[in-house]
Amino acid sequence: MEILKPVKEGKVREIYDNGDTLIMVATDRISCFDVILHNTVTNKGKVLTQMSKFWFDLTKDLVPNHMLSVDTADMPEYFRQEAFEGKSMLCRKLEMLPVECIVRGYITGSGWASYCKDGTVCGIRLPEGLSESEKLPEPIYTPSTKAEIGDHDENISFEQSVDYLEKRFPGKGAEYAARLRDLTLALYKKCADYALSRGIIIADTKFEFGLDENGNIVLGDEMLTPDSSRFWPADTYEAGHSQPSFDKQFARDWLKANPGNDWTLPQDIVDKTIAKYEQAYELLTGKEI
Ligand SMILES: Nc1ncnc2c1ncn2[C@@H]1O[C@H](COP(=O)(O)OP(=O)(O)O)[C@@H](O)[C@H]1O
Ligand SMILES: [Mg+2]
Repeated sequence: MEILKPVKEGKVREIYDNGDTLIMVATDRISCFDVILHNTVTNKGKVLTQMSKFWFDLTKDLVPNHMLSVDTADMPEYFRQEAFEGKSMLCRKLEMLPVECIVRGYITGSGWASYCKDGTVCGIRLPEGLSESEKLPEPIYTPSTKAEIGDHDENISFEQSVDYLEKRFPGKGAEYAARLRDLTLALYKKCADYALSRGIIIADTKFEFGLDENGNIVLGDEMLTPDSSRFWPADTYEAGHSQPSFDKQFARDWLKANPGNDWTLPQDIVDKTIAKYEQAYELLTGKEI
Protein backbone atom coordinates (compact mmCIF):
# COMPACT_ATOMS: atom_id res chain seq x y z
CA MET A 1 0.00 0.00 0.00
CA GLU A 2 1.29 3.41 -0.93
CA ILE A 3 1.58 5.81 1.99
CA LEU A 4 0.23 9.24 1.06
CA LYS A 5 1.27 12.60 2.45
CA PRO A 6 -1.14 15.52 2.73
CA VAL A 7 -0.39 18.40 0.35
CA LYS A 8 -1.71 20.69 3.01
CA GLU A 9 -2.00 20.32 6.72
CA GLY A 10 -4.17 22.91 8.46
CA LYS A 11 -4.81 23.23 12.17
CA VAL A 12 -7.56 20.68 12.05
CA ARG A 13 -7.85 19.36 8.49
CA GLU A 14 -5.55 17.57 6.05
CA ILE A 15 -5.86 17.78 2.28
CA TYR A 16 -4.61 15.03 -0.02
CA ASP A 17 -4.13 15.45 -3.74
CA ASN A 18 -5.70 12.64 -5.75
CA GLY A 19 -5.24 13.70 -9.38
CA ASP A 20 -8.47 15.31 -10.57
CA THR A 21 -9.89 15.07 -7.07
CA LEU A 22 -8.96 15.99 -3.52
CA ILE A 23 -9.50 14.15 -0.29
CA MET A 24 -10.30 16.36 2.69
CA VAL A 25 -9.84 14.75 6.08
CA ALA A 26 -11.19 16.29 9.27
CA THR A 27 -8.95 15.07 12.09
CA ASP A 28 -9.90 14.76 15.76
CA ARG A 29 -7.75 17.77 16.62
CA ILE A 30 -9.43 20.69 18.36
CA SER A 31 -8.36 24.32 18.52
CA CYS A 32 -9.49 26.79 21.18
CA PHE A 33 -8.56 30.46 21.18
CA ASP A 34 -6.57 29.71 17.99
CA VAL A 35 -4.32 27.14 19.72
CA ILE A 36 -4.34 23.42 18.93
CA LEU A 37 -4.88 21.51 22.15
CA HIS A 38 -2.82 18.44 23.05
CA ASN A 39 -5.97 16.34 23.39
CA THR A 40 -7.75 14.74 20.51
CA VAL A 41 -11.53 14.65 20.60
CA THR A 42 -12.49 11.15 19.46
CA ASN A 43 -15.20 11.26 16.81
CA LYS A 44 -14.94 15.02 16.19
CA GLY A 45 -13.47 14.54 12.70
CA LYS A 46 -16.21 12.10 11.78
CA VAL A 47 -18.91 14.41 13.14
CA LEU A 48 -17.55 17.33 11.11
CA THR A 49 -17.24 15.39 7.86
CA GLN A 50 -20.66 13.77 8.21
CA MET A 51 -22.20 17.13 9.09
CA SER A 52 -20.77 18.73 5.93
CA LYS A 53 -22.16 15.77 3.99
CA PHE A 54 -25.59 16.34 5.53
CA TRP A 55 -25.64 20.02 4.48
CA PHE A 56 -24.25 19.34 1.01
CA ASP A 57 -27.05 16.82 0.46
CA LEU A 58 -29.68 19.19 1.85
CA THR A 59 -28.66 22.07 -0.44
CA LYS A 60 -27.54 20.36 -3.63
CA ASP A 61 -30.56 21.67 -5.55
CA LEU A 62 -29.78 25.23 -4.47
CA VAL A 63 -26.12 25.12 -5.49
CA PRO A 64 -23.86 22.37 -6.84
CA ASN A 65 -21.09 21.32 -4.44
CA HIS A 66 -17.75 19.54 -4.65
CA MET A 67 -18.67 16.40 -2.68
CA LEU A 68 -18.22 13.11 -4.56
CA SER A 69 -18.15 10.53 -1.76
CA VAL A 70 -17.50 9.94 1.93
CA ASP A 71 -17.04 6.21 1.36
CA THR A 72 -13.38 5.24 1.62
CA ALA A 73 -14.07 2.40 -0.85
CA ASP A 74 -14.08 5.18 -3.48
CA MET A 75 -10.66 6.41 -2.33
CA PRO A 76 -7.12 5.01 -2.64
CA GLU A 77 -6.37 2.00 -0.43
CA TYR A 78 -4.42 4.16 2.04
CA PHE A 79 -7.69 5.71 3.28
CA ARG A 80 -9.22 2.38 4.22
CA GLN A 81 -7.92 2.45 7.77
CA GLU A 82 -9.28 3.52 11.13
CA ALA A 83 -7.66 6.98 11.03
CA PHE A 84 -9.68 7.94 7.94
CA GLU A 85 -12.97 6.05 8.07
CA GLY A 86 -15.91 8.45 8.26
CA LYS A 87 -13.62 11.47 8.37
CA SER A 88 -12.66 11.71 4.72
CA MET A 89 -14.47 13.34 1.83
CA LEU A 90 -13.57 12.83 -1.82
CA CYS A 91 -14.11 16.14 -3.61
CA ARG A 92 -13.94 17.62 -7.09
CA LYS A 93 -10.89 19.83 -7.43
CA LEU A 94 -11.90 23.43 -7.99
CA GLU A 95 -10.17 26.68 -8.80
CA MET A 96 -11.03 28.45 -5.56
CA LEU A 97 -12.35 32.01 -5.66
CA PRO A 98 -10.19 34.13 -3.32
CA VAL A 99 -13.06 35.40 -1.16
CA GLU A 100 -14.31 34.03 2.14
CA CYS A 101 -18.08 34.30 1.93
CA ILE A 102 -19.18 35.20 5.44
CA VAL A 103 -22.81 35.66 6.42
CA ARG A 104 -24.04 36.89 9.79
CA GLY A 105 -27.54 36.45 11.13
CA TYR A 106 -26.67 37.71 14.63
CA ILE A 107 -24.27 40.39 15.79
CA THR A 108 -21.29 39.03 17.70
CA GLY A 109 -17.50 38.74 17.66
CA SER A 110 -15.65 41.14 15.35
CA GLY A 111 -19.00 42.32 13.93
CA TRP A 112 -20.15 43.43 17.38
CA ALA A 113 -16.81 45.20 17.99
CA SER A 114 -17.11 47.07 14.70
CA TYR A 115 -20.76 48.01 15.34
CA CYS A 116 -19.88 49.39 18.79
CA LYS A 117 -17.20 51.58 17.22
CA ASP A 118 -19.11 53.12 14.32
CA GLY A 119 -22.48 51.45 13.81
CA THR A 120 -21.38 49.48 10.76
CA VAL A 121 -20.16 45.97 9.91
CA CYS A 122 -18.01 45.69 6.77
CA GLY A 123 -19.40 48.97 5.45
CA ILE A 124 -23.02 48.00 6.11
CA ARG A 125 -24.88 50.43 8.37
CA LEU A 126 -27.03 48.61 10.91
CA PRO A 127 -30.00 49.92 12.89
CA GLU A 128 -29.22 51.81 16.08
CA GLY A 129 -29.64 50.25 19.50
CA LEU A 130 -28.74 46.61 18.75
CA SER A 131 -27.48 44.66 21.74
CA GLU A 132 -24.77 42.02 21.75
CA SER A 133 -25.79 38.71 20.09
CA GLU A 134 -29.05 40.22 18.83
CA LYS A 135 -30.64 38.75 15.73
CA LEU A 136 -30.22 41.09 12.75
CA PRO A 137 -33.34 42.26 10.89
CA GLU A 138 -31.91 40.46 7.84
CA PRO A 139 -28.76 38.31 7.51
CA ILE A 140 -25.85 40.32 6.07
CA TYR A 141 -23.12 39.26 3.66
CA THR A 142 -19.68 40.38 4.88
CA PRO A 143 -16.96 38.98 2.61
CA SER A 144 -13.28 38.90 3.49
CA THR A 145 -10.14 38.35 1.48
CA LYS A 146 -8.50 34.96 1.74
CA ALA A 147 -5.14 35.86 3.26
CA GLU A 148 -1.86 34.24 2.31
CA ILE A 149 -0.53 31.91 5.01
CA GLY A 150 0.38 33.91 8.11
CA ASP A 151 -1.63 37.00 7.18
CA HIS A 152 -5.00 37.69 8.73
CA ASP A 153 -8.09 37.66 6.56
CA GLU A 154 -9.29 41.19 5.95
CA ASN A 155 -12.93 42.24 5.92
CA ILE A 156 -13.95 43.98 2.71
CA SER A 157 -17.08 45.68 1.43
CA PHE A 158 -19.17 44.12 -1.34
CA GLU A 159 -17.78 46.73 -3.78
CA GLN A 160 -14.23 45.81 -2.82
CA SER A 161 -15.04 42.15 -3.46
CA VAL A 162 -16.07 43.13 -7.02
CA ASP A 163 -12.69 44.83 -7.63
CA TYR A 164 -10.80 42.02 -5.97
CA LEU A 165 -12.42 39.34 -8.15
CA GLU A 166 -12.16 41.53 -11.25
CA LYS A 167 -8.36 41.61 -10.85
CA ARG A 168 -8.16 37.82 -10.86
CA PHE A 169 -10.94 37.23 -13.41
CA PRO A 170 -11.07 40.22 -15.80
CA GLY A 171 -14.60 40.94 -17.02
CA LYS A 172 -16.15 38.66 -14.38
CA GLY A 173 -15.75 40.59 -11.10
CA ALA A 174 -19.27 42.00 -10.86
CA GLU A 175 -20.92 38.76 -11.94
CA TYR A 176 -18.95 36.52 -9.58
CA ALA A 177 -19.26 38.89 -6.59
CA ALA A 178 -23.05 39.14 -6.96
CA ARG A 179 -23.42 35.41 -7.40
CA LEU A 180 -21.30 34.64 -4.32
CA ARG A 181 -23.39 37.05 -2.25
CA ASP A 182 -26.71 35.67 -3.47
CA LEU A 183 -25.69 32.03 -3.03
CA THR A 184 -24.26 32.70 0.44
CA LEU A 185 -27.43 34.40 1.67
CA ALA A 186 -29.70 31.73 0.15
CA LEU A 187 -27.69 28.88 1.70
CA TYR A 188 -27.60 30.55 5.10
CA LYS A 189 -31.31 31.31 5.17
CA LYS A 190 -32.31 27.78 4.30
CA CYS A 191 -29.90 26.08 6.67
CA ALA A 192 -30.20 28.48 9.62
CA ASP A 193 -34.00 28.14 9.54
CA TYR A 194 -33.62 24.39 9.47
CA ALA A 195 -31.09 24.35 12.34
CA LEU A 196 -33.27 26.62 14.46
CA SER A 197 -36.16 24.18 14.07
CA ARG A 198 -33.80 21.56 15.58
CA GLY A 199 -32.64 23.71 18.52
CA ILE A 200 -29.41 25.17 17.16
CA ILE A 201 -28.81 28.82 16.24
CA ILE A 202 -26.26 29.28 13.48
CA ALA A 203 -25.15 32.81 14.35
CA ASP A 204 -22.78 33.14 11.42
CA THR A 205 -20.79 31.02 9.02
CA LYS A 206 -18.32 31.04 6.16
CA PHE A 207 -18.56 29.39 2.76
CA GLU A 208 -15.93 29.00 0.05
CA PHE A 209 -16.72 28.60 -3.61
CA GLY A 210 -14.66 27.69 -6.66
CA LEU A 211 -14.96 27.20 -10.39
CA ASP A 212 -15.25 23.79 -12.00
CA GLU A 213 -13.70 22.90 -15.35
CA ASN A 214 -16.66 24.50 -17.16
CA GLY A 215 -16.44 27.75 -15.21
CA ASN A 216 -19.50 27.01 -13.07
CA ILE A 217 -19.52 28.25 -9.49
CA VAL A 218 -19.47 25.29 -7.10
CA LEU A 219 -19.59 25.22 -3.29
CA GLY A 220 -16.38 23.79 -1.80
CA ASP A 221 -14.56 23.37 1.49
CA GLU A 222 -16.45 22.30 4.62
CA MET A 223 -20.04 23.35 5.12
CA LEU A 224 -21.80 24.61 8.25
CA THR A 225 -19.70 22.76 10.78
CA PRO A 226 -19.00 24.15 14.24
CA ASP A 227 -15.44 24.82 12.98
CA SER A 228 -16.61 27.16 10.20
CA SER A 229 -19.60 28.61 12.04
CA ARG A 230 -20.83 29.79 15.41
CA PHE A 231 -23.39 27.33 16.78
CA TRP A 232 -25.36 28.46 19.84
CA PRO A 233 -27.87 26.46 21.86
CA ALA A 234 -31.29 27.95 21.03
CA ASP A 235 -32.92 27.10 24.36
CA THR A 236 -30.71 29.43 26.43
CA TYR A 237 -30.35 32.19 23.81
CA GLU A 238 -30.76 35.68 25.14
CA ALA A 239 -29.48 38.92 23.57
CA GLY A 240 -27.51 41.38 25.69
CA HIS A 241 -24.37 39.34 26.32
CA SER A 242 -22.11 36.84 24.59
CA GLN A 243 -23.51 33.34 24.03
CA PRO A 244 -21.96 30.00 24.97
CA SER A 245 -20.58 28.00 22.06
CA PHE A 246 -22.64 24.87 21.45
CA ASP A 247 -19.60 22.64 21.06
CA LYS A 248 -16.56 24.25 22.73
CA GLN A 249 -18.01 25.82 25.84
CA PHE A 250 -16.73 23.19 28.30
CA ALA A 251 -13.25 23.38 26.79
CA ARG A 252 -13.13 27.19 26.74
CA ASP A 253 -14.51 27.52 30.27
CA TRP A 254 -11.95 25.09 31.63
CA LEU A 255 -9.06 26.80 29.84
CA LYS A 256 -10.15 30.20 31.19
CA ALA A 257 -10.64 28.87 34.72
CA ASN A 258 -7.20 27.28 34.68
CA PRO A 259 -4.71 29.92 33.57
CA GLY A 260 -1.20 28.58 33.24
CA ASN A 261 -2.50 25.28 31.83
CA ASP A 262 -0.38 23.71 29.09
CA TRP A 263 -3.34 23.40 26.65
CA THR A 264 -4.22 19.91 27.82
CA LEU A 265 -7.79 19.29 28.99
CA PRO A 266 -8.71 16.79 31.71
CA GLN A 267 -10.46 13.71 30.35
CA ASP A 268 -13.89 14.59 31.79
CA ILE A 269 -13.84 17.89 29.87
CA VAL A 270 -12.83 16.04 26.70
CA ASP A 271 -15.68 13.58 27.24
CA LYS A 272 -18.20 16.38 27.71
CA THR A 273 -16.89 18.05 24.55
CA ILE A 274 -17.22 14.84 22.54
CA ALA A 275 -20.79 14.52 23.76
CA LYS A 276 -21.59 18.05 22.54
CA TYR A 277 -20.31 17.32 19.02
CA GLU A 278 -22.34 14.12 18.91
CA GLN A 279 -25.40 15.92 20.25
CA ALA A 280 -25.09 18.65 17.58
CA TYR A 281 -24.98 15.99 14.86
CA GLU A 282 -27.93 14.11 16.29
CA LEU A 283 -30.06 17.22 16.74
CA LEU A 284 -29.38 18.41 13.20
CA THR A 285 -29.71 15.14 11.35
CA GLY A 286 -32.07 13.23 13.62
CA LYS A 287 -29.61 10.31 13.40
CA GLU A 288 -26.98 8.86 15.69
CA ILE A 289 -23.41 9.29 14.55
N1 LIG B 1 -12.82 21.55 -3.97
C1 LIG B 1 -11.70 22.21 -3.69
N2 LIG B 1 -10.71 22.33 -4.60
C2 LIG B 1 -9.55 22.99 -4.30
N3 LIG B 1 -9.29 23.57 -3.12
C3 LIG B 1 -10.25 23.50 -2.16
C4 LIG B 1 -11.50 22.82 -2.39
N4 LIG B 1 -12.25 22.92 -1.27
C5 LIG B 1 -11.51 23.64 -0.38
N5 LIG B 1 -10.31 23.99 -0.91
C6 LIG B 1 -9.22 24.74 -0.26
O1 LIG B 1 -8.57 23.83 0.59
C7 LIG B 1 -7.96 24.56 1.66
C8 LIG B 1 -8.36 23.94 2.98
O2 LIG B 1 -7.45 24.37 3.91
P1 LIG B 1 -7.78 24.65 5.42
O3 LIG B 1 -7.33 23.47 6.21
O4 LIG B 1 -9.19 25.10 5.61
O5 LIG B 1 -6.80 25.84 5.73
P2 LIG B 1 -6.94 27.39 5.34
O6 LIG B 1 -8.39 27.74 5.30
O7 LIG B 1 -6.18 28.04 6.44
O8 LIG B 1 -6.29 27.58 3.99
C9 LIG B 1 -8.45 25.99 1.56
O9 LIG B 1 -7.43 26.77 0.99
C10 LIG B 1 -9.64 25.86 0.63
O10 LIG B 1 -9.84 27.06 -0.10
MG1 LIG C 1 -10.14 26.97 5.77
